[in-house]
Amino acid sequence: MTQSQLPRHVAVVMDGNGRWAKARLLPRLLGHQRGVEAARKVIRGCSQAGVECLTLFAFSSENWKRPPDEVSGLMSLFMTVLDREAEGLVRYNIRLHFIGDRQAFSPSLKEKITQTEAKTAHCQGMRLLVAANYGGRWDIIQALQAYLTAHPNSDPTTLSEHSIAPYLSTARLDVPEPDLFIRTGGEYRISNFLLWQLAYAEFHFSEKLWPEFNEQDLALAFADFAKRQRRFGMTGEQIQQGAGHA
Ligand code: IPE
Ligand code: IPE
Ligand code: MG
Repeated sequence: MTQSQLPRHVAVVMDGNGRWAKARLLPRLLGHQRGVEAARKVIRGCSQAGVECLTLFAFSSENWKRPPDEVSGLMSLFMTVLDREAEGLVRYNIRLHFIGDRQAFSPSLKEKITQTEAKTAHCQGMRLLVAANYGGRWDIIQALQAYLTAHPNSDPTTLSEHSIAPYLSTARLDVPEPDLFIRTGGEYRISNFLLWQLAYAEFHFSEKLWPEFNEQDLALAFADFAKRQRRFGMTGEQIQQGAGHA
């Protein structure tokens, strides 16, 4: 696969943990625990393939509506995983960032997130964005708020997508928009993930439940992506003549 056929940024909705557990008569939380192992495989696979950035949807702004014991179980899982995985991330030279509204997390989780981001801050390899308490609509609103704070006297008629885009949580981290979107669990929706940033992403859906997703499935997604012709609104002929994006 040439470098241009490899996505620079992969964004994943890791879905199906609960159903995986239910099918085995296990508590949903066990499905989330097994999901962490799948995440580790995908992180390693993307990093080894040369992907520049991987964004994993870990907890949506709507997931607070789940039963309280599942929500608190997920919060303690985040704590455990951050503790356990920080060293491995450094070993793989992966820089971690959280995107989403972290205000809602407990002080100890907020601190753990900040600490882990700091521990990997010197890493120059792949960027790993974990979307937690993230919502695509929230992202657009916070970008707009940041823009208006920076330009309090701005004329609304001059507002363009170029005004807002730099304030999106991914752009603030200097991360390009996703090229490849993967959703597992046989669902075909965005569920309020990176709404703005996915405008021109290629979509790949897997029937596999997230805990079962592995390196081969990732390779399938990359192969699927490599076959697509990205046209960005142009014609196929224009793209063949080299008018497309870099
Ligand atoms: C995704 O798996 C993980 C989170 C949303 C935290 P689910 O928990 O949504 O699994 P299903 O969709 O119920 O099987
Ligand atoms: C999306 O999955 C959020 C995460 C994977 C973290 P959901 O399982 O919450 O999405 P819906 O509710 O099925 O749309
Ligand atoms: Mg789900």
